[in-house]
Amino acid sequence: MRNTKVKDLLNSTTTLQEVNTKGWVRTFRNNQFIALNDGSTINNIQCVVDFENTADEILKRITTGAAVSVTGNLVESKGSGQKYEIQVAKLEILGDSDPEKFPMQPKKHSLEFLRENAHLRVRTNAFGAIMRIRSVLSFAVHNYFQQKGFVYVNTPIITGADAEGAGEMFQVTSLPLDNLPKNEEGTIDYKKDFFGKHTNLTVSGQLEGETFAMALGQIYTFGPTFRAENSNTSRHLAEFWMIEPEVAFNDLDDNMDLAEDFIQYVIKYALDNCGDDLKFLEGRLLEEEKSKPQAERSEMTLLERLNFVLENNFKRVSYTEAIDILRESTPNKKKKFNYIINEWGADLQSEHERYLVEKHFKCPVILFDYPANIKAFYMRLNEDGKTVRAMDILFPGIGEIVGGSQREERFDVLVEKMKALGIDEKELSWYLDTRRFGSATHSGFGLGFERLVLFVTGMTNIRDVIPFPRTPGSAEF
Ligand code: 4AD
Ligand code: MG
Repeated sequence: MRNTKVKDLLNSTTTLQEVNTKGWVRTFRNNQFIALNDGSTINNIQCVVDFENTADEILKRITTGAAVSVTGNLVESKGSGQKYEIQVAKLEILGDSDPEKFPMQPKKHSLEFLRENAHLRVRTNAFGAIMRIRSVLSFAVHNYFQQKGFVYVNTPIITGADAEGAGEMFQVTSLPLDNLPKNEEGTIDYKKDFFGKHTNLTVSGQLEGETFAMALGQIYTFGPTFRAENSNTSRHLAEFWMIEPEVAFNDLDDNMDLAEDFIQYVIKYALDNCGDDLKFLEGRLLEEEKSKPQAERSEMTLLERLNFVLENNFKRVSYTEAIDILRESTPNKKKKFNYIINEWGADLQSEHERYLVEKHFKCPVILFDYPANIKAFYMRLNEDGKTVRAMDILFPGIGEIVGGSQREERFDVLVEKMKALGIDEKELSWYLDTRRFGSATHSGFGLGFERLVLFVTGMTNIRDVIPFPRTPGSAEF
């Protein structure tokens, strides 16, 4: 018999004869009421067991976590809280679960405990909701770009290029680590390595993406990226997913317009398609807020925050203006920031980004025209000779969610910059070909997918919005 998803049963507009559904028992009350969940929706379906005519051995095996198959009529529920329930005619235990040992008991667990059980936490309401929202958001990403005619490009995972120049790469090698071959200079002989050269896991698909944009016009990547930065924060992962559009003939203003429109689209898509899950997470957040002091509670609920981003333009502010605001700010004057802003040129920390967004502007902010020496080599130099056409989008509760720029399309200026930074021209000769042959203005950005999921779900730790987080000291599962 065909298995009908719980979501479809709950959305049914009529009662139904003889349906079958399969899922996992969340709770079993009074030896009679099973709350059954199959992952298709946050909502459980109530299955009413005819306990008088069911063997005790079977009733005993209906425990939290067990997999069961339930057959019976879908009838109007006599109880409150649900429209329909299943009057169980036939119940089959598909997989037992030891109630003493199953870690996901129907009670509140700490997020830390759940992280240690990442393979089972997805069986909880909160993580089921987060992972469904994550899936819908990734579909929305593709939808947005496909509708606009962007070409999806799979850029390499293994690469010799360090796109961001931050030196935070994981090395890839097949050389024996306990017996490395040396060359005449006594350093590692990468010629003997698998690729005949030194390679890494990619930190960004941008450089390869640019070569495709200079042929296909508008492209996007959406894939895993890796950074060995040892920042054990609630915003950093060693393995995260990034979306990187790149558009030929777009300047920085076009780039900002695209980023803003794109972010608003995917958030709207989640609001339109994840209503039940978002409502659940909003309720969870409200519960959590109750235990916080009044001053730390957020002014808006989750849905209000999402709608706020849709209804308000992002505030566009130059780096120079931002530095002036920060220098004059109370936490700077009272030395409340960990890093005090003294002069122009300072790199912004997340405490500064969040001050601008949460305290000063109270809306998403796009900062642009950063000092050249705190940004990557490929960004276009402004006429002032000291700032570049960079833009970062800052979000409340998150800080930086997008980093992007107009690219340096002038061959000589780019080569000059690479020389100054000691970047090997020969290694990136293929990249420079985009500037040798038919170079043109172009721009792009990278959106950290997990930071987007963080914002949409209202979670506060990035480890809770990716199935199996990789962070310093941790690569379980
Ligand atoms: O600002 P980033 O480093 O920019 C780039 O990689 C450019 N190549 C993008 C481009 O122009 N095509 O990274 C982009 C975004 C950040 O704004 C942030 O959202 C996310 O990627 N990100 C991380 N997310 C999770 N964990 C980390 N360690 C991250 N590092 C960056
Ligand atoms: Mg950045």
